[in-house]
Amino acid sequence: METKNMFSLEGKKGFITGSSRGIGKTIAKAFIDLGADVAILGSHLDTAEKAAEELSNGRSKVIAYQCNVADPDSVSAMIADYEKDYGSIDFAVNNAGIFTGEAALDISPDAFRSVIDVDLNGVFFTAQAAARLMVRNGSRGSIISTASMSAHVVNRPQTIANYCAAKAGVVQLTKSLAAEWAKYGIRVNCVSPGYMQTDLVSSMSDMLPVWQGMMPEGSRLGFPPDLIGAYVYFASDASEYATGSELIVDGGYTLV
Ligand SMILES: NC(=O)c1ccc[n+]([C@@H]2O[C@H](COP(=O)([O-])OP(=O)(O)OC[C@H]3O[C@@H](n4cnc5c(N)ncnc54)[C@H](O)[C@@H]3O)[C@@H](O)[C@H]2O)c1
Repeated sequence: METKNMFSLEGKKGFITGSSRGIGKTIAKAFIDLGADVAILGSHLDTAEKAAEELSNGRSKVIAYQCNVADPDSVSAMIADYEKDYGSIDFAVNNAGIFTGEAALDISPDAFRSVIDVDLNGVFFTAQAAARLMVRNGSRGSIISTASMSAHVVNRPQTIANYCAAKAGVVQLTKSLAAEWAKYGIRVNCVSPGYMQTDLVSSMSDMLPVWQGMMPEGSRLGFPPDLIGAYVYFASDASEYATGSELIVDGGYTLV
């Protein structure tokens, strides 16, 4: 393959969870720019449809679906609709995630579970749905999950135990699924962002200077476009030999 075509997504199709805004929406736009057909998945249909309309370029197939990743029935309904519209799947980006922020001494069981349900179980349910379709169609697909640097460091000063536990789980889930699905030609990798200035962290804007102070000198906090290269790498044929890998993209936060 010519080097300049290695990163093309022309002719590839798949879904991105949590792509009605934030990191997911930025990745969806990048994939569409590179020629992919992308299904926009959101927990609310209206915002997913709005994003799909905004991202449509008249060439790629861009359809919105409602999908609560924490609910296996919702994921099954989504993948059935996806298959009707797109037929097959080359990539799945399991990106939807939430953060609640209660202190570990005070958090209720339901609040603790809510983050594990979306950020870890939800990643598994959508990865499994995509892999089943890949196996049925015999497509050698790429599954990419959004983990976090929180899989490796404890974020401070916010309280975030359930989130860190879920994201560490995503990294080991990635390796486990990569080993299990290699025989089908399915690659499973994850991207671990550092702090990205999205709606997810907007309630903590007073912490931006604190986090900045924890970065290596000369580095900065991130924005979603800083992650495009990592997701394109894993979705494209450029990463054909990469599976079970984690790419940390954090401006060096976890180094110091
Ligand atoms: N922003 C950061 O600093 C940062 C850092 C590391 C990792 N991440 C991870 O990146 C991913 C995207 O984060 P973001 O910053 O773009 O956040 P965001 O809040 O802007 O977007 C998250 C998306 O997930 C969707 N979502 C939430 N719960 C869902 C559910 N149950 N079912 C389906 N969709 C659901 C939301 O509707 C939203 O579209 C998350 O997994 C997050 O944990 C973010």
